[in-house]
Amino acid sequence: MLVLDGKLVSGSVKESLKAETTALLEKGYRAPHLAAILVGTNGASETYVASKVKNCEDIGFVSSLVRLDENVDEATLLSTIAQLNADPGVDGILVQLPLPKQINEHKVIEAIDPRKDVDGFHPSSAGKLMQGLPSFIPATPYGIMLMLEFFNLPTKGKHAVVIGRSNIVGRPMSILLSSNIPGGNCTVTVCHSHTPNLKEICLQADILVAALGRPEFVKADMVKPGAVVIDVGITRVDDPTAKKGFRIKGDVAYAEVAPLSSAITPVPGGVGLMTIAGLLKNTLQAYKTNNGIV
Ligand code: GUN
Repeated sequence: MLVLDGKLVSGSVKESLKAETTALLEKGYRAPHLAAILVGTNGASETYVASKVKNCEDIGFVSSLVRLDENVDEATLLSTIAQLNADPGVDGILVQLPLPKQINEHKVIEAIDPRKDVDGFHPSSAGKLMQGLPSFIPATPYGIMLMLEFFNLPTKGKHAVVIGRSNIVGRPMSILLSSNIPGGNCTVTVCHSHTPNLKEICLQADILVAALGRPEFVKADMVKPGAVVIDVGITRVDDPTAKKGFRIKGDVAYAEVAPLSSAITPVPGGVGLMTIAGLLKNTLQAYKTNNGIV
């Protein structure tokens, strides 16, 4: 069984992005700039955004974090986005999700200039992805594709089962896996909360992607021996014995599934790190496209 080490792959992606950034700076270009907007103080969102900012700094990008109050109104958030859209020194914009109830998430996503949509959540990016046109790929599915590629895991003709149909992971993942691209050409089944025979379908998977957000949902009796298992879950589960009072759990019961699988991503240390790698790649792509750098 091969452990799909996100640290190894994201480290390699970051190294090449850092080299490319250094070369751009040496030529006199400015550094790529990612702007993140964080609304409120959700603990998990704080952690993710801090990690995104730190990773930008690691590779020589500029990052700025705009913090808005939990009770901010939609108009203020939209005008913050408009300012970043208009700023030629900002290459990529992300608004950390989820957002508080008073804010319409779709409106916010649609307010981001598609040329700076490094999360790939704008309907323009999603539509392009669906039609096989060049676009920003949402960071988590992008990171998973990079991981499949890095480890040379065969996908052509395989049956991939994706559990989850979110706009952030499940749906774009299913499109990529079925596309005629490296890491694609799978036959894809998408499962969700209304799928009655989930276990039987999962048992048919050569590649199983668990992205439903339910800790340790995928058990050994749902996995075909030799399957490649990709765990997208990162749920905080209370644990008074842990230093922080919680532990991060994936959607896969790792201890029982790992011995069965041919390859599996650990949690933490798997897909989470690849999400950052995907975001950084999108940010450099936005920078180059918007500044006419080939
Ligand atoms: N919330 C959970 N995942 C993501 C992500 O990839 N991007 C943003 N902006 N918010 C998220």
